[in-house]
Amino acid sequence: MKIAVIGMGSMGPGMAARLARGGHEVTGYDLDSAALARAEKLQPMIATALDGLGIAAEGAPVRFLSNLEEAVAGADLVIENVPENVEIKATVYARLAALVSPDTVIATDTSGIPITKLQAHVAEPARFVGMHWSNPPHIVPMIEVIGGEQTAPETVAFIRDLITSLGLLPVVLKKDVPGFVENRVLYALLRECVDLVDAGVIDPVDLDTCVNWGIGFKLSAIGPMRLLDMAGLDIYESVSSFLNAELSTRADVAPMVAQKNAEGNLGMKTGQGLFTYSEEELASLPVERGRKLVALRRILEGRE
Ligand SMILES: NC(=O)c1ccc[n+]([C@@H]2O[C@H](COP(=O)([O-])OP(=O)(O)OC[C@H]3O[C@@H](n4cnc5c(N)ncnc54)[C@H](O)[C@@H]3O)[C@@H](O)[C@H]2O)c1
Repeated sequence: MKIAVIGMGSMGPGMAARLARGGHEVTGYDLDSAALARAEKLQPMIATALDGLGIAAEGAPVRFLSNLEEAVAGADLVIENVPENVEIKATVYARLAALVSPDTVIATDTSGIPITKLQAHVAEPARFVGMHWSNPPHIVPMIEVIGGEQTAPETVAFIRDLITSLGLLPVVLKKDVPGFVENRVLYALLRECVDLVDAGVIDPVDLDTCVNWGIGFKLSAIGPMRLLDMAGLDIYESVSSFLNAELSTRADVAPMVAQKNAEGNLGMKTGQGLFTYSEEELASLPVERGRKLVALRRILEGRE
């Protein structure tokens, strides 16, 4: 299959590499030449992770192109990976309308903008679908598939089958809700974590230890629904009957995070966020995290 990945920021390079490893003919496009160069430079690190997962290289490497027309020529599938902003995404869809065939499936990697909302900006809404990868996309095997009101069932099936054929795990949503499922769950967790740190209940470093080695450690082996059965639904009922009322329900952004952003401390991308990062850490952390995730996945898949 011929696949074009549009947007080579955080998500595009790994996704494109994973698809190419599956034997597909993949192009990567970005309007920023620096992003294209960065994506190409990241390929050896991504390849090391894919090798570690035992995913054999079946096809040619990704071709990085600075010309959109050339990148999408003859594409069966275009995956849009540009910033999480309806106007920017709509601009891309308008350009694609003039360049691809009406049969081309256009998928968006939006983190949670309803597909029905984005669908209003595409030429062939029946062939438009959500394909929500998880970061790092070449390592995390689960991908959400979301149809909007006008998405044809065949389009959902096309993406689901592609994911399955790659040996990955499609999760098809039954409803197009904001944030889909993965980010609704993640943001519920993050809201509570940020609130606990903000309220002075715990230091950030201890919060991470609590989640990493407590629930996070368990959740990679036992999902929340199974965990409920394991703990006992009677326990859940008695604890949630008093604890649910205590949990954060704030609808705005926690002051701690808003303040850091206002100061320009955005996290690793600026070297300082909730923690401070040295140049060495900024270089080593992505490699180290990739190595751990690859090792963990091999164990969870029963390969070690
Ligand atoms: N970062 C994550 O963890 C993550 C996870 C899952 C999904 N997503 C979603 O994936 C999408 C991309 O996120 P990201 O984190 O990779 O963003 P990013 O900001 O890192 O990268 C976006 C890239 O798109 C390029 N771009 C902007 N306008 C463009 C245009 N008109 N044509 C081509 N390229 C253009 C930018 O130059 C940039 O390189 C978003 O919708 C985001 O919500 C992100």
